[in-house]
Amino acid sequence: MSRQFETIGVVGLGTMGAGIAEVFARNGYSVIGVEQTDEQMERGRANIRHSTDRAVKRGKLSAAEQQATLDRLRLTTQLADLADCDLVVEAVVERLGVKRAIFQRLDEIVRPDAVLATNTSSLSVTEISAATSSPGRVIGLHFFNPAPVQQFVELIHTVVSDPDVIDDVEELARKMGKLPVAVEDRAGFIANALLFGYLNHAVSMYESHYASREDIDVAIRLGCGYPMGPLALLDLIGLDTAYEILDTMYREGRNRLHAPSPLLKQLVTAGLLGRKTGRGFYTYEAADRPIVVDDAETPGLDSAPQFRRQIARVGVVGSGTMATGIVEVFASGGYDVTHVTGSTSLDELADADLVVEAIADELSAKRALVNSLDEICRDGAILATTTTSLPVIELAAATGRPGDVVGMHFFNPAQEVELVEVVATVATGSDVTETVRAVCAAVGKHAVCCADRAGFIVNALLFPYLNDAVRMLEAHYADADEIDTAMKAGCALPMGPFELLDVVGNDVALAIEQRLFQEFREPGLAPAPLLEHLVTAGYLGRKTGRGFRDYSTR
Ligand SMILES: NC(=O)c1ccc[n+]([C@@H]2O[C@H](COP(=O)([O-])OP(=O)(O)OC[C@H]3O[C@@H](n4cnc5c(N)ncnc54)[C@H](O)[C@@H]3O)[C@@H](O)[C@H]2O)c1
Repeated sequence: MSRQFETIGVVGLGTMGAGIAEVFARNGYSVIGVEQTDEQMERGRANIRHSTDRAVKRGKLSAAEQQATLDRLRLTTQLADLADCDLVVEAVVERLGVKRAIFQRLDEIVRPDAVLATNTSSLSVTEISAATSSPGRVIGLHFFNPAPVQQFVELIHTVVSDPDVIDDVEELARKMGKLPVAVEDRAGFIANALLFGYLNHAVSMYESHYASREDIDVAIRLGCGYPMGPLALLDLIGLDTAYEILDTMYREGRNRLHAPSPLLKQLVTAGLLGRKTGRGFYTYEAADRPIVVDDAETPGLDSAPQFRRQIARVGVVGSGTMATGIVEVFASGGYDVTHVTGSTSLDELADADLVVEAIADELSAKRALVNSLDEICRDGAILATTTTSLPVIELAAATGRPGDVVGMHFFNPAQEVELVEVVATVATGSDVTETVRAVCAAVGKHAVCCADRAGFIVNALLFPYLNDAVRMLEAHYADADEIDTAMKAGCALPMGPFELLDVVGNDVALAIEQRLFQEFREPGLAPAPLLEHLVTAGYLGRKTGRGFRDYSTR
């Protein structure tokens, strides 16, 4: 017969522990929360109250349910008060030594049949369990942030975990409306192993002044539909926790892309841990509060109009979906648009103020085109390229006006996606970048600026993550459904990586990944062999009826 869980202990009431205690209490369990000091205990209580207040405001909880939830919660500073618990979930700082010491004590305090779980994000559950006399009852129970909202939980079993412990906790998680997936004990499990490489990469982009924090975050929200940008998410997670997770992942896999960016360490050392301390990548109105306030890095007002060029007439070159979409965007924004396709002459663009080329992404064709445009267009006209994968500087160098050449990377369908990546090369004039930004705003688009590197912002952050997901599948750590579920239900992404790859096309993904690998030469960016094999087999995704999944019968 399966275990009955009535009283649940939660050790540590920080970012995660407070949320985990709330989840159990809201589901009718008696909860005993343990903190180190009275002050931290009261902070945990205030956070649970604040979070349940919000749930009441949003109509997710009635006032009576909130009171009952709070009544089921007992807080203490004594681990010994957990003696009668049926399950204890540990959620203290991500440090192995601290966690092992707590498990050693819990092992002595709780009944022999009680289950001990760690909420660790990346540490070895096996090593934690080895601190107890009965490692069979130790498992990982990894909630996602915020725990009351995210449905997904990872259930981590070690080689010695009792199968019935996993089964019982799985049943408990399901009863609370969570979506549990059982996985083996590896650093980062499913979701963090895929998420943290991406988060670390975003920090490196910001650290190298490749783009501003706001532009990186907006690019991901608008370009990928993610609920939060990576730097805002890191602030929510806590930069100390993120640092420890990356450090553990790096030590286990020796993948340089997981070596924590130096900036993370600096922020942690300075005590800027994110929302919980009121400042991380962004500054917040107070500790533990979500509202961002202006600080020294907040972008100033737009440059004065006299530093921009006048744009009235826009030319668009190309006959594909992208070119047609861009024509519509400018026309509905009130610009006088000339659309040049194969049947019309480039000469019609002689008096255009801005020409956007959107022909096929092939270097020699694009170079020849911008070269002709350079001869035809008036002095001072801006030449923009929509290239996804070519260096913009290659095209600028094919003209006699490299300062006037800029990237304007629209996303498909151009009429709908609000984002445009504005790519400045080493030669692009700042007035040109400013002008293009202002034009984007005038046609209702949100421009983000970045340097001229493979993948710009969105693709450079997205495709290495998709590639990591393919590697995880290839290694048989989890199947495509489990991985897709982890990323959707754990990280609130709009699509799982395999759903997305099948929509984007495996051939398109492979080409982008090859380009990223060629430019950065990072072993971790080498396209996964499984992706190459699928492309060779013609399994390109939905467009061929088969990719990671088979659509022929659906
Ligand atoms: N932050 C996230 O997004 C996230 C998501 C999933 C899992 N996790 C994991 O959850 C755990 C906690 O992370 P967090 O972000 O909540 O950290 P946190 O720093 O916000 O909170 C940790 C809390 O533990 C308390 N604590 C430390 N030692 C203690 C002890 N001996 N006894 C009682 N309390 C103690 C601290 O006072 C603090 O309040 C970590 O293992 C982390 O990897 C974090």
